[in-house]
Amino acid sequence: MPSPAPVTLTIANEGAMTRFGAALARVLQPGDTVLLSGPIGAGKSHLARAVIRAFIGPDEEVPSPTFTLVQTYTAEGTEIWHTDLYRLADSSELVELGLDDAFSSAIVLVEWPDRLPAELVPANALSVNIQPGDTERIVTLSSPSEHWAPVLTELPYV
Ligand SMILES: Nc1ncnc2c1ncn2[C@@H]1O[C@H](COP(=O)(O)OP(=O)(O)O)[C@@H](O)[C@H]1O
Ligand SMILES: [Mg+2]
Repeated sequence: MPSPAPVTLTIANEGAMTRFGAALARVLQPGDTVLLSGPIGAGKSHLARAVIRAFIGPDEEVPSPTFTLVQTYTAEGTEIWHTDLYRLADSSELVELGLDDAFSSAIVLVEWPDRLPAELVPANALSVNIQPGDTERIVTLSSPSEHWAPVLTELPYV
């Protein structure tokens, strides 16, 4: 099946990014992987936090996984994994953590996905690239998988 066309959004400010995260959370299901790329300070963690809080509650603590590699959450039986691979030393750690199993059973949000060995990247992952401006962010959504076609069509309007 053909890849859906990438979609680019301009997110005006932090609040708009939080709302975008909530909209993204509504379409995520177990087995979905979101690859969050962009430079330091782009807003990858801000977006991940917004997605997670949409599941677990707006006032819940969502600590950075920079040093732990992974933080996991459970919401109504769905596991959510938030991983930041910036400090990943050895990709065998990922298998030890169970990330490959999580890709098939959980919702997985990955910061610094370029650290993932190509063979571990789920074929149906959604890529979210964030490019920072002053307060605005240019967000590009893409995936090789037709699975995301309806989402890519609808998300810009939510
Ligand atoms: N439009 C925006 N979207 C997301 N974050 C923004 C935006 N405008 C400003 N920010 C700020 O930019 C910073 C992004 O940090 P963070 O999410 O930790 O980035 P990353 O995880 O990509 O390194 C936060 O301090 C956030 O408040
Ligand atoms: Mg981060």
